[in-house]
Amino acid sequence: MTEIRPLSWGRRYLMCRPEHFRVDYAINPWMDVDAPVDPDLALGQWDDLAATIERAGAAVERISQLPGTPDMVYAMNYGLVDGDHVAITSFRHDQRRPEAEAAEWWFGETGMRTTRVADAGVGAFEAGDAFLFGDSLVVADGPRTDRATHAVLGRELGVRVASVGVVHPALYHLDLSFCPLDETRAIVAPAAWDRAGRATVAALVPDPLVIDEDEAFTFCANSVVIGDVVVMPAGVPARVARRLEAWGFSVQTVDVSELHKGGGSIRCMTLPLDTVLDDARLTVEPRPREQGVPV
Ligand code: ARG
Repeated sequence: MTEIRPLSWGRRYLMCRPEHFRVDYAINPWMDVDAPVDPDLALGQWDDLAATIERAGAAVERISQLPGTPDMVYAMNYGLVDGDHVAITSFRHDQRRPEAEAAEWWFGETGMRTTRVADAGVGAFEAGDAFLFGDSLVVADGPRTDRATHAVLGRELGVRVASVGVVHPALYHLDLSFCPLDETRAIVAPAAWDRAGRATVAALVPDPLVIDEDEAFTFCANSVVIGDVVVMPAGVPARVARRLEAWGFSVQTVDVSELHKGGGSIRCMTLPLDTVLDDARLTVEPRPREQGVPV
């Protein structure tokens, strides 16, 4: 068994306590406006999640939820962090746009620089569709992100982008089908992707843990990895947990079923604040000229 080579990120998260969580509209197939949400249960489950993440050794920063933005609890989507720069999400749906503004304010207060992908006018980009893995920023081209934004991101961040076509309506964000575990391993759900996307991920991930559609529907790819701890939603298939443990990870589960009603789970609720995209950076430092070489 090769040992775990931990991800370079995942020790600091931004989270939003579900003070105003509801299902008021349906913008993904999981959301049912007629299914009641238990607000106290949602708060309790979220507190449990935040405590579990802290116990696993990561820091949790908190942003307060704006009334009238029930999906703000899914913080992963505010933007993509690269050091002290954040590429702010350009939401597909109007209902979520105020969240981007609230988050942009928070990042500014924290001393981070923000740019808006929306300014390029080329379409939607939601940060739940982007992950650093290997030498690339893997970005979905699918229900929530338009392919034209990939070039904008590549240019703005100076990174190599690997595009993955997401075609499954219920696995609408990349973070529902792709979960980086360490430098060579990731949970992958090819059922979410088109043929080219499957080939792209296969070329990028040396050691995949392949899950099928039913397994992906447990939200087990929507997990958070803190060193060798994988914080997963309760209901993770035993096969998946066993595979992770055989690799040397420790699996901790949290019941966030109330939050699943909005179509998101653990990863959706946690925005990594410590991502630096250097491994995907394109800028090649000019080689220092050798001294004293005769011409
Ligand atoms: N209701 C939210 C939406 O449809 C859920 C977002 C889930 N977040 C995620 N990163 N997958 O936008």
